[in-house]
Amino acid sequence: MGKLIFDPSNYQVKEMTIDGITIEYRVFADIVYVAKPLEPKHQSLNIYVPEVYYSGESINGCNIKNAPIFFPITIGGYMPNVSDQPGSDRRNSRNATFRALEKGFVVVAPGARGRVNKNEEGVFTGKAPACIVDLKAAIRYLRFNKDLIPGDTDKIITNGTSAGGALSSLLGATGNHPDYDLYLQEAGACEAEDHVYASSCYCPITNLENADMAYEWMYYRLKDYYKLKFMGIGEDGPIMVPDNGVMSDDQLKVAEEIRRYFPTYINELALYDGQGKQLVLDQDGNGTFKEYVKSFVVDSMNAANEVGSLTVLPAWAVSEAGRIVDIDFESYVQFATRMKPTLAFDALDLSTGENDLFGTASIERLHFTSYAFGHSEAKGGMANPKIVKMLNPMSYLDDDKANMAKYWRIRHGAVDRDTSLAIPVILQNRLTDVGASVDFHLPWGEGHGGDYDLDELFAWMEQVLKK
Ligand code: DHB
Repeated sequence: MGKLIFDPSNYQVKEMTIDGITIEYRVFADIVYVAKPLEPKHQSLNIYVPEVYYSGESINGCNIKNAPIFFPITIGGYMPNVSDQPGSDRRNSRNATFRALEKGFVVVAPGARGRVNKNEEGVFTGKAPACIVDLKAAIRYLRFNKDLIPGDTDKIITNGTSAGGALSSLLGATGNHPDYDLYLQEAGACEAEDHVYASSCYCPITNLENADMAYEWMYYRLKDYYKLKFMGIGEDGPIMVPDNGVMSDDQLKVAEEIRRYFPTYINELALYDGQGKQLVLDQDGNGTFKEYVKSFVVDSMNAANEVGSLTVLPAWAVSEAGRIVDIDFESYVQFATRMKPTLAFDALDLSTGENDLFGTASIERLHFTSYAFGHSEAKGGMANPKIVKMLNPMSYLDDDKANMAKYWRIRHGAVDRDTSLAIPVILQNRLTDVGASVDFHLPWGEGHGGDYDLDELFAWMEQVLKK
């Protein structure tokens, strides 16, 4: 393990100005965090530290020893990623990493393997659970080197969007769980703990093995879908072109069939609202769980209304004395529109990113639900259920062997159709039930994305760090 000792002398000092704000920081770059990397470009991390910490100064009461660690996970689509850097975001403002340095955090930006990694022999090297194994290995590297690493490894806060949000939730839910040990050993991870302090998740695309039925519970009535296809990376970022369509009669039949499994899933989960009332669904998908999901959309609209950003009150919203009190859920779903054709996650033709995620070293794509496996149109095989479990934070929330983060912030845009609203709603409910402190909201007008409310994110981090 000698190689995995952090070298404090190997750094560069950099300066950057955005929005008229200048940061000076020390960067320790391209640190490979495992002893047996298959993809060193991805299995590496960058550490950024405010330069003033090296002359004994502090920022907001933080110094080189006690600064919290911000851990930005830039994984999208379960693809391979590299360390984030301070810079501009899509809104041409300071990105989260830049702002974290400004506020006195140490930033540890991890890369990780992803579903399309392949070595020279054509062997896939980044299929599940590689992404979560790598991120855990990065956390372990920090703890293993905690006396050498700047910042406080007891105060690691993870942040990610979409697949990155799912991985942030996994880090929060599965700390030190032995399920991952063999994979960590195989990667040559340090012997150290991998739990985190707090987890920020934007639109976590998770609970994948239950996501198809959750999707159809919402969208089964909608025939048309509206999505964008990724065509590669251009000068201004990803090139996306419309890839819309109409579901076939067969797909509509599958949607109708699969949605009927969702009530059983919900009823067996035994979720409760804040008043101790069980959240259930009848055979047709109606019931207290649906009312509960609706309540978050109602809250979202009221919050937008209070700050004047609900410019038009949709006809499907019922308001009384200036407050929205109810919505017609079906009309809201129509307003949001369907993005993905059936089956949204475990496609019968194995065409989704998730099918690709659950492949193996030698098999590119697999099914991960019994329904799609049983009805496969591609003669697809089935993923190892232990690996499917390892990608789902829900599998660990009742498990004493997992050291769960206490503090959570979950955001899912109120018109984000990449997964069903039920998915984050269930996650936050179960987290709360097992004792986590969860700040959950559906920002009105937001679609699929993250980091759009960085002032609020940092305010939340500052607040939970005081606890
Ligand atoms: C992402 C989006 C998806 O719709 C999905 O199924 C998986 C990942 C993403 O943006 O990371």
